[in-house]
Parts: sequence; C-alpha cells; structure tokens
Amino acid sequence: MPEFIHTGKDKKKFVEKMFDDISPHYDILNRVLSFGIDKYWRNKLIQSMNIINDQSILDVATGTGDVIFAINKKYNVESTGLDISKKMLNIANMKLEKIKNKQRNIAFIHGDAEKLPMEDNLYDHICISFGFRNLGDYNIALKEFHRVLKPGGKLSILEFSKSKSKFFNKIFQFYFNKILPRVASLISRADAYRYLPESVKYFPDQSKISNFLDSNNFIDIKIQPLTFGVATIYKGIKN
Ligand SMILES: C[S@@+](CC[C@H](N)C(=O)[O-])C[C@H]1O[C@@H](n2cnc3c(N)ncnc32)[C@H](O)[C@@H]1O
Repeated sequence: MPEFIHTGKDKKKFVEKMFDDISPHYDILNRVLSFGIDKYWRNKLIQSMNIINDQSILDVATGTGDVIFAINKKYNVESTGLDISKKMLNIANMKLEKIKNKQRNIAFIHGDAEKLPMEDNLYDHICISFGFRNLGDYNIALKEFHRVLKPGGKLSILEFSKSKSKFFNKIFQFYFNKILPRVASLISRADAYRYLPESVKYFPDQSKISNFLDSNNFIDIKIQPLTFGVATIYKGIKN
C-alpha cells in the first residue's frame, strides 16, 4: 500500500504544501544527497534542448530556478519560471536579486502547470526538471504545454526513472529508500523524502511517458537515459 497519493487534486495540494515546507533546505539537500549529480543532469537537459539566442523559454515547476539560471548564464534568451509553490519562488527571486546585474530577462511567476496563465503559441521551448512526476494529471499538463508552445516548439522533460541495470538498481534503491530519507529528515520535513522514492516507484515507465507525449500530439519523441537510467530526458516537438 502506498503511503502517499500519486494522482489528482489531493496530490497537487499535498505537493504544493510539501514544497513550501522544504523550500529553505531544498537546494542544499539536492546538492548533498545527489553528490552533485543533479547539476550534471540539469546541464544534460539544457544541452539537449539546442537553445538558440533570442528564443523564449518556459521552465515549468521551476522551483528555486536552477534550470533558468543555468540557461540564462549560457544564452541570451527570455525565460519564465513557473511554480505552484510560492515559497520555492521566493527563494528563486532571492537568487535572482543577487545576480540581476548579470542575468536579465528572467521572470518568475506563480501558477499551475495544469492551467498555465499564458496565451497560446508563445514559447520556443518548455522544459520541466524533476517536476513532471509531481503533477496531478500528466495528460492535462501535456495539453497545456502543447497549447502554449509555438508550432514546432520543443518540450524537454527531465525526470527520475527506474534503472534497468539490476545491480545498479539494487544499490540505488537501498540508498534512495533507506539512507536518503534518514539523512534528509535530520534537517527537513521527513515525509517529503519518503514521498520522493515512493513517487518514483509509482511514476509511469519510459514507454508510457512516450505514449502520453504521442497521444498529446508531440512528434519526434526521443528518450535519453542518464546514469544507468536513474534519470531520463524525454523530448518531443509540437506538431
Ligand atoms: C523537485 S522540484 C524541482 C524544481 C526544479 N525544477 C529543479 O530541477 O530543482 C518540483 C517542483 O514542482 C513544483 N510543482 C509541483 N506541482 C506543480 C504544478 N502543478 N504546477 C507547477 N509547479 C508544480 C513544486 O512546487 C516544486 O517546486
């Protein structure tokens, strides 16, 4: 029996409050508990997007803004970060305040991935890093991503996945289920780091995500596993 709800409106409410609560320690726990590999994965995502200067980017579930800051350091683009947790956005805005002389063209807005507060056909790219798994309804969100992308615009999703290497999976699952929640509970909301491995367990596998993209009118779908398949980049183009 799962401890948490993994779909629907109640999941959304739980997730919003959880990220509000863990926001002060989110960045530091990411770096420490992933041994820095989260940064490598986000860079892989950005590389895979093939961004060109002057394009417009929407980073959904931006959290504390790490993907946007990395993108805008490299490219001269207009970026918007959207998140449902106001407290995660407060941290993103504090980080923006510190670098605003170097990085302009960044805006953070509060909103729901399943009901984007934007007009149609606006963005060249949408990316979502470790946020997709947390959404209440994947298909509703994909319809929204499709709506606000320009025709030919690109969607890039980075998310945890289950490694197909039995050996690696054993080691990783031990760390993810036993060590990580204990260490994290010393400084952050304990159930959040039990939700994390459970949410990965209940997240659909790569072929299902690929089918969701296909049935929501994305074409040229590509799947790129990272680090023995512990994380995966999914890509699709708006048809
Ligand atoms: C694990 S964090 C990822 C943050 C950031 N993208 C990163 O790579 O560090 C997941 C984020 O998804 C956000 N989120 C969850 N459900 C959402 C929704 N329905 N709409 C917008 N953001 C959502 C959470 O508030 C949280 O900030």
